[in-house]
Amino acid sequence: MSLQTRALHPLFVAEATGVDIRAPLSAADRDAIVQAMDRYAVLVFRDQPLSEAQQIEFALSFGPLDLGLRKVNKSRVAHRFSHEALIDISNVDVNGKIADRNSRKMYSQLANQLWHSDSSFQQPAARYSMLHSVVNPGQGGETEFADLRAAWDALPEDIKALISPLESEHFALYSRMNLGDNAYTEEEKARLPAVRWPLVRTHPGSGRQLLWVGIHATRVIDMHLGEGRLLLAELLEHATQREFVYRHQWQVGDTLMWDNRATLHRGRRYDLTERRELRRTSTEDVQ
Ligand SMILES: [Fe+2]
Repeated sequence: MSLQTRALHPLFVAEATGVDIRAPLSAADRDAIVQAMDRYAVLVFRDQPLSEAQQIEFALSFGPLDLGLRKVNKSRVAHRFSHEALIDISNVDVNGKIADRNSRKMYSQLANQLWHSDSSFQQPAARYSMLHSVVNPGQGGETEFADLRAAWDALPEDIKALISPLESEHFALYSRMNLGDNAYTEEEKARLPAVRWPLVRTHPGSGRQLLWVGIHATRVIDMHLGEGRLLLAELLEHATQREFVYRHQWQVGDTLMWDNRATLHRGRRYDLTERRELRRTSTEDVQ
């Protein structure tokens, strides 16, 4: 069998079948996945429960692994997985119990509900992320994706001209601090200094232009702070309107793979006293 895709949305996202992602990938399968990612930006693999080791192997097929915020948090948040590049997207603490409502772990779960691209606060950022479902809550907890290429295509020409020369600054802790998670030391903040990105980027795989926004963007360079933040909010609102958004209803054993250079995503609200456990891996956007 070889990779087959079935579109799940008019603009992007496809269900992928025909490849066993639990086994080492052949070069042909790997290349087919990259090509499908360039087209669809999000692939859904169903019914392939991954062990921790299998998830690491699968991710490594696409490049070196990204640790993201664990660079800041690893001394503060205990880890319950076998590999430090397995990122715990759950409301469960290191002892397997529902985490304390005021813990940094729980703040991460809340921050995940804001539209973002993984690790856009660093360079290199994340290229692909793979999120594997282990336990789902009874209600809510879906993940939504927005297509930043379609968002660019649909912008009015005057806005395209306005933003084409502009850059914004992305900072890792901006969204968390806005939610009230302020207890970061200067040393922790210094571990992930802010980075600059153009507001408009070209996706190297597809050649398509895209609107590069998200909740990690704190300001527009060389623009009045308030005006810049309003512009970022307006662009984010544009990029995440319903026609550009796919909502994924998780089933245990699903693995979603997305291109952080072409999409934003967010988790949806759920009852934090119910378990929601997903495991993420991400690759660095390097050659
Ligand atoms: Fe994320």
